[in-house]
Amino acid sequence: MRVIAIDGPAGSGKSTVAKALAARLGLDYLDTGAMYRAVTFAALRRGIDPSEAEQVARIVPDLALDVSPAGVVVDGVDATIEIRGPEVSRAVSVVAANTGVRSEMVRRQRAWVQARGGGVLEGRDIGTVVFPDAELKVYLTADPEVRAQRRSKEVADLDYETVAADLARRDAYDQGRAASPLTEAVDAFVVDTTGLSVEDIIDAIAGRVASGA
Ligand code: DC
Repeated sequence: MRVIAIDGPAGSGKSTVAKALAARLGLDYLDTGAMYRAVTFAALRRGIDPSEAEQVARIVPDLALDVSPAGVVVDGVDATIEIRGPEVSRAVSVVAANTGVRSEMVRRQRAWVQARGGGVLEGRDIGTVVFPDAELKVYLTADPEVRAQRRSKEVADLDYETVAADLARRDAYDQGRAASPLTEAVDAFVVDTTGLSVEDIIDAIAGRVASGA
């Protein structure tokens, strides 16, 4: 079973790299951050305070989640655009720190891989928790300013300062939480993407896959 784990903070280039790598290797691609965003969307939509851990965890087992490159559907509602919006982005860290939510998402991520016989998964804990035996674990980093610039290009209606502040807050939260904090696996292939083109990054990672390191 071929499993490639791509972890790192927001704006490090995970999505771009994971999609391109999946296409090159002929594997399916899963954005696990979109799953935590989808749960956050569902909680907000039901009027549940995202920081009410028990209430949020309670909705998860029965939640119909369809996360694919075509879009994100939550209980039959297309949430593709809304899960990237400011409301969900503000609330997602607290939902991702919820152990009840995490255990169910990890279970679904493993089932997703089982059903396909492998895949490229991007997130924060893929190489450390979800697939510690992955064929290759990649940890992407980049300077905070560069990551904020990349993110502010994606969200057209927010200025750089707002995006940079939100990113710094989320980094601190994701790295400091008790449940599966963002950290690189000891055996991860660490790539600083600050000055690299997408092509360069993919070549470096694909070379690593080919060499079986
Ligand atoms: O990659 P992203 O910005 O879409 O992730 C959204 C949030 O979910 C972010 O706060 C980190 C969290 N996350 C996580 O805790 N574990 C994952 N495997 C993926 C994302």
